Amino acid sequence: MRYALISDVHANLPALQAVLRDIAVRASVDATFHLGDLVGYAPWPNEVVELLAVAGVPGVAGNYDSTVATDYKHCGCQYEDPHQEELSHLSYGWTRANVSPRTKALLGALSFRIDLRPLGGHVAGPTVTLVHGNDVLNTVYVHETRPDAFLQKMGAGLGARAGDVVCFGHTHVPWHRVVDGVHYVNTGSVGRPKDGDWRAGYVLLDVTDRDVAVEIVRVEYDVEAAAQAILATELPGELADQLRRGGRLAVAK
Ligand SMILES: [Fe+2]
Repeated sequence: MRYALISDVHANLPALQAVLRDIAVRASVDATFHLGDLVGYAPWPNEVVELLAVAGVPGVAGNYDSTVATDYKHCGCQYEDPHQEELSHLSYGWTRANVSPRTKALLGALSFRIDLRPLGGHVAGPTVTLVHGNDVLNTVYVHETRPDAFLQKMGAGLGARAGDVVCFGHTHVPWHRVVDGVHYVNTGSVGRPKDGDWRAGYVLLDVTDRDVAVEIVRVEYDVEAAAQAILATELPGELADQLRRGGRLAVAK
């Protein structure tokens, strides 16, 4: 089985369209799943949710999805500094004011985790588990700097065994590490990367009964169209520059 895994689209329609086109031309992809955070920070929350619904792409709930769906007081995001916190509050307020009832209902219906087994478990092969954050909360950041013990606890919490694959997003930086035979895969971000590369990111996962291969893919898209669309709304204009810089702050050295 070859899975395409897309995460953290964050209402960036041009980025999502480019990624879905890239997946479509790879005829060997058997199924596509998302790992949450469909909305926030860009001006197309309803269009993104609708496109994934029409395309039949299932997925799990990110913190942004479940907080928007439940009218929670904040998005459950972590902030680098008070200024980023302010931007985040403005983005969350704009998103809550602009999602349709249908979008909220679809976001509220997303599940916490999805387990994929080859042909429903009728053939041998690893289980692939999808969550947004960790095994307990969709707000926990699983950065690459997390120690092995953290990943072991997460894998055990999800019931992963050697050979299985645990996939998650939320940090917007893709990476892959194997601990005790379990693959831990951060699928990065389609619509708001934070690794300094502005291109949309996703992961191709090839799973056989003996092996797992992980490919981190980057796709160019019209980032300027997305930036201009942000500037045409009441969303903070700084979010446009963050997209152009792949999440790197203007003052970052
Ligand atoms: Fe996110």
